[in-house]
Amino acid sequence: TWTMESFIETTVREIREMVSSEDRVVCALSGGIDSTVTALLVHRAIGDRLVPIFVNNGVLRKNEPEEVLSLMEGLGLKVHYVDASQRFLERLQGVTDPEKKRRIIGYTFIEVFEEEARKIGNVKWLAQGTLYPDVIESVSFRGPSATIKTHHNVGGLPERMQLKLIEPLRELFKDEVREIARELGLPKKVIWRQPFPGPGLAIRILGEVTEERLRILREADAIVTEEMLKSGWYYKVWQSFAVLVPVKTVGVMGDYRTYEHVIAIRCVESQDAMTADWVRLPYELLARLSNRIINEVQGVNRVVYDISSKPPATIEWE
Ligand code: XMP
Repeated sequence: TWTMESFIETTVREIREMVSSEDRVVCALSGGIDSTVTALLVHRAIGDRLVPIFVNNGVLRKNEPEEVLSLMEGLGLKVHYVDASQRFLERLQGVTDPEKKRRIIGYTFIEVFEEEARKIGNVKWLAQGTLYPDVIESVSFRGPSATIKTHHNVGGLPERMQLKLIEPLRELFKDEVREIARELGLPKKVIWRQPFPGPGLAIRILGEVTEERLRILREADAIVTEEMLKSGWYYKVWQSFAVLVPVKTVGVMGDYRTYEHVIAIRCVESQDAMTADWVRLPYELLARLSNRIINEVQGVNRVVYDISSKPPATIEWE
């Protein structure tokens, strides 16, 4: 019978037989379950000849690079870390169109990844966390959910660098990957991590991405995540996050009028991101989120809760 243990054993053996002893393998890490499980399986097979690459694209969440790196270190992976924030943020300067932001982040990611892979030397393979539904979808149609795949889609790279692909999860569904992740000892936080889009906070800051807006959104988003985790709601919903609405509204603080940004909170339940409904979070939790964001995040004087379902609204605001 097919057990997770035997899947791991078989897969590790197959990878070991496939990759010859001088070859190196690269993969892109995001901190999510698919890329982490993929990296661990390849690492079990060939050790540090796997070089997992983690790119800081400048639009990650608060403390995200540090947390991903320490998690990977704890799992025994030696990560090749690249802080390319400045390159991404410079290219995003003055850009307001959401699809343009996505394209810039997409091709800059590939560019950085390729540069790093070339530095490593003897790289012959690319390992990817492609799942079975991705395989089906990419041959049948490219619907709206195809965007989910843009995260670590290093499209074009295998051909340009003549890399062969290792896709150990390509016959599995998400729930099976979760079982393997548990078997490999990954923490709950990774196994049940909410989806996070490849273009990151750039599509949660409406309009232009600036350092100041990133600071505000990072702080607000960290409060949302912290309170969702603390109250137990984080694991019950599909996604929960903050959005920076770059309009200014009037407020009052002591004897002064303020004129500052609006933070919107988005929290939805969903099966597959194709449809979604807003979550009826308890008023007490919403009140705590609002109070904390307004008191702790400089530059915000108003918090609103998004009560739109998908369709016709989308989950993200851009
Ligand atoms: P929407 O906003 O279209 O989002 O309802 C559906 C799901 O896809 C995620 N999303 C993205 N993921 N790159 C990604 O990797 C993207 O450009 C992107 N846009 C949306 C979104 O977070 C939700 O889970």
